[in-house]
Amino acid sequence: MIRTGIYKLEKFDRAALKDIFGRERNISISLYQQLDKIDNFEEKTRYAEIILNRFNTDRNVIKRTYRDRFNNFDSLSINKIQDQGYDRISILDLAISDGRASCFFLEQALLKLQNFQYTGSDIHINYYLNKVKAGTKSFIITGEDQKIIEIVHPPFVWNLARTEGGFYFINNLLKNHYLKKARAAFLNHKYTYQEKIELIHPDYQTLLTKSKDFHIRKHDLFDPIPAKYCVIRAMNILHTGYFNREHLLSILNNIYNGLEMNGLLIEGSNENAGSPVNGAIYRKYEKGFKILSEPEKPSRISELVLSFRDINKND
Ligand SMILES: C[S@@+](CC[C@H](N)C(=O)[O-])C[C@H]1O[C@@H](n2cnc3c(N)ncnc32)[C@H](O)[C@@H]1O
Repeated sequence: MIRTGIYKLEKFDRAALKDIFGRERNISISLYQQLDKIDNFEEKTRYAEIILNRFNTDRNVIKRTYRDRFNNFDSLSINKIQDQGYDRISILDLAISDGRASCFFLEQALLKLQNFQYTGSDIHINYYLNKVKAGTKSFIITGEDQKIIEIVHPPFVWNLARTEGGFYFINNLLKNHYLKKARAAFLNHKYTYQEKIELIHPDYQTLLTKSKDFHIRKHDLFDPIPAKYCVIRAMNILHTGYFNREHLLSILNNIYNGLEMNGLLIEGSNENAGSPVNGAIYRKYEKGFKILSEPEKPSRISELVLSFRDINKND
């Protein structure tokens, strides 16, 4: 059985998104950088969502994100930051995907906070489209770690993080064949043409230009945070859908060490854009975290966050 993938911008209607067996087709992430070609704002947003929803680079790295996702919660969070009376506010926004779900937060911060620093981060921000020659139709997508993530050999698109399943045995045979060829060519520097795909939404990009103190950078939640922040925000990522308890504790330890004393951890997740957020705002104290506010619905990880203890401190 065979299924083709979507590797050029076409009408993303129900029929185009499914194959003849009613299963989802793979969509190449290279389409993300072609979104500028779409003039209609709503269509562009819808396409961006579809492209990212179908893209994942390993089990946890799911890029799904939406604009206006946590507006009420974001507003309340900014109010809480304001209430703290910090001298100099520095904010680290973790796991932002392409930044769309951070736009409202940043807009509110610009409205209500004076003179603050903001850094958005994600484990992967840049990807690379590699071709043997500029004119060829086939290409591979690699990450910053030089790993091959996607192979496009029209009409096929293979996302290497997604298994095709035994049903698509022809795809699997072809995928293995092209993967072998691509690996050898990549190792032997045969890909002479490269384009960067920056997974940053234009609206977010525009907000980042509002201050010289706004930046984005690559950061893995499992790495220590290299500076101290007043506020760390982590939306739609710190829960057991992505990480087990042990992993969450290790991430919490990095967040704790990345916060100033009395700094805030803002975390939450919801079902859909605009639905109530299961989340909380915590304050760092000498031994761990205390809940400052749980504005909408109980946090899914409060028990874990409250039980976290700074391993460097004894009771
Ligand atoms: C579901 S998206 C959430 C995006 C955004 N925060 C939101 O609320 O819509 C999860 C994001 O977490 C990122 N991610 C997954 N594992 C990560 C890790 N170990 N370190 C940093 N980011 C990670 C993914 O790349 C993805 O952008």
